[in-house]
Amino acid sequence: MNQIAQRLLRKSTQAGKVALITGGSSGIGKSCALEMAKQGARVVITDLANREKQMQQVVEEITKMKGQAMYIPLDVSKEKDWTQAIQQVHQKWNEPLDVLVNNAGIGGALKPFEELTLEDFRLVQSINLDGVFLGMREGVKSMKQNPLGGSIINVSSILGFVGNPIAVPYCTSKGGVRLMTKATALYCAQNKMNIRVNSIHPGYIDTPILDGIRQTPGVLENLISLHPIGRLGKVEEVASGVVYFASDESSFITGTELLIDGGYTAQ
Ligand code: NAI
Repeated sequence: MNQIAQRLLRKSTQAGKVALITGGSSGIGKSCALEMAKQGARVVITDLANREKQMQQVVEEITKMKGQAMYIPLDVSKEKDWTQAIQQVHQKWNEPLDVLVNNAGIGGALKPFEELTLEDFRLVQSINLDGVFLGMREGVKSMKQNPLGGSIINVSSILGFVGNPIAVPYCTSKGGVRLMTKATALYCAQNKMNIRVNSIHPGYIDTPILDGIRQTPGVLENLISLHPIGRLGKVEEVASGVVYFASDESSFITGTELLIDGGYTAQ
């Protein structure tokens, strides 16, 4: 059976798909990596170089469940890291990407607006916005070589839909990701690339990104109260949306967004 026929057999499953996940050693990204691997994808876990041990642990977890995974240090804000990482994936499996999950992100400084420095603002954009741009650009170049096309999933936030007065840089970046997703989806569709691009918008999810606010009394309770469902989200609940967008079940869906927010934005 030739390679294309084999790949067509993967329809409706993640089996054998090559999926690269940024920020894959923690929180939502780690959960996406484990879920994609459980469903048979070959997973590339990427994260900052200082997270090597944690990336290794995720690879070991996947290997234990008889999955296939590799890890590559990749700072999403660095152009060169992206080109090298994708080259490494092509070398390892001799195939282009099927799935790219642009998940890495930071919350940034939580300060009154007038106290924000330009550096505070730019740092958040350099990771949350530049990172997604570079990832999509390099992802599209790889997926263009894929006879079955591909799926790009960008992890934005409810704060790409609604504002938060103490998170102006973060809201800017996540709103940007939402429209960058749509514009890129249209570009890929118009150029008949068979590459779908969608965004996911989680409400507050219990991950280390919340560690900065966890200690302040009352803050967590207040966050919970903003979700009509009455609790924070779980990483698996976001990963299941990512897996849906990655799968062929969502083959007619591009340029759209999925809110996974316990009703936060419904009010
Ligand atoms: P996390 O802090 O557990 O994981 C983020 C990962 O991104 C970490 O492993 C970190 O090392 C990595 N990272 C940070 N800067 C990076 C860079 N320059 N290059 C590569 N990797 C980098 O956070 P969590 O919660 O899993 O967040 C994942 C995504 O979900 C982020 O984009 C975040 O904005 C988004 N999100 C999270 C929500 C939450 O409540 N946890 C809510 C809405 C969106």
